[in-house]
Amino acid sequence: MSRRVLVTGGAGFIGSHTCVALAAAGYTPVIFDNLCNSDIRVLERLRQITGSTPQLIEGDVRDEALLARVFADEPFAAVIHFAGLKAVGDSVADPLTYYDNNVRGSVALALAMQRAGVNTLVFSSSATVYGQPDHSPIPEDAPLRPANPYGRSKLMVEQALSDLHRAQPGWRIALLRYFNPVGAHESGLIGEHPQGKPNNLMPFVCQVAVGQREKLQIHGGDYPTPDGTGVRDYVHVMDLAEGHVAALMHARTRAGLSILNLGTGQGASVLDVVRAFERVSGRALRFDIGPRRPGDVPAYWSDPSLAKATLGWRAGRSLEQMCADSWRWQQGNPRGYD
Ligand code: NAD
Ligand code: WQD
Repeated sequence: MSRRVLVTGGAGFIGSHTCVALAAAGYTPVIFDNLCNSDIRVLERLRQITGSTPQLIEGDVRDEALLARVFADEPFAAVIHFAGLKAVGDSVADPLTYYDNNVRGSVALALAMQRAGVNTLVFSSSATVYGQPDHSPIPEDAPLRPANPYGRSKLMVEQALSDLHRAQPGWRIALLRYFNPVGAHESGLIGEHPQGKPNNLMPFVCQVAVGQREKLQIHGGDYPTPDGTGVRDYVHVMDLAEGHVAALMHARTRAGLSILNLGTGQGASVLDVVRAFERVSGRALRFDIGPRRPGDVPAYWSDPSLAKATLGWRAGRSLEQMCADSWRWQQGNPRGYD
């Protein structure tokens, strides 16, 4: 039985960390990535961590001919599908690119799998499908009200894969809704390196701490939260990676479709993150509290109990560890893989 797992988007932030977890579990990750938002030098870092260099197939998931060749060449036990674009603001400005990349790409991948007889798929969805929740913690059966093209693209893929499973119940599918992935592998060899000015909180905090940016602009201090700043469910990227391996192992044991939240079930405010980061880095972070960011939800966090019950998975790494691991990566790699 093959232990090869095709990891689309595997050169990226979450995908590369999942390759580490796959190798640790005895699987052979094969990365399929067009490198539009990642760096080929991650492969050498993965070799240093796992002892072997994952195979890279450089290509686009929308390339149906290439996908057909990939599945014809060698067998795969399963696919974990990370490849996609993820910037909410960009999706508002350029929706068709997001629907083409995220939806058409996912459908092309599933079609290639179907033709090749590979029917085990873990899909990287997002808590963004919930939009503005009525309350937190958010269970999987909460209303789905994505508020932007990015979130809608994720929901469309979830719906397409649910329809596929309804038509062909032999498929083994896990749809994983991540909340706010942060952190880095404990080695400091791989991590998140957004191109240009970071949209997300943790990489911005890291760049302030290392002196690349002057100060953090906190988007809003008047939210109905304990300290007035936004609250999110930050989850360590290695917890997330291990959650993918757990979902893969679960999917391989039985046909079915699971929809699961991957989060800690705990909310943390922006100021909680800033204070935790200051504690672990020993650096004082300069910040201003400015106006709210349009489109931001005041507070949300997950109810991860179904993932615990289904997979036996829970996110165990603390906010301090998320900050410490982010900081180690940032200090050692101020310009990413350059
Ligand atoms: P990332 O940009 O680091 O990784 C995505 C990878 O996919 C990159 O290596 C990129 O080169 C590749 N890629 C993009 N389009 C492709 C295409 N058409 N063909 C082949 N490769 C392609 O992002 P990430 O943070 O690792 O996110 C991975 C997945 O998780 C994405 O689907 C994202 O929507 C989802 N997600 C991310 C977050 C988050 O906050 N990071 C939260 C929830 C869900
Ligand atoms: C977190 C908190 C901000 C930056 C986004 C996407 C979501 C998902 C995860 C893909 C908020 C505050 C941030 C800054 C700040 N990605 N903040 N100053 O918006 O919860 O989720 O990433 O699926 O789709 O929307 O994450 O890190 O941008 O913000 O004050 O410079 O930090 O207001 O409260 P978000 P984020």
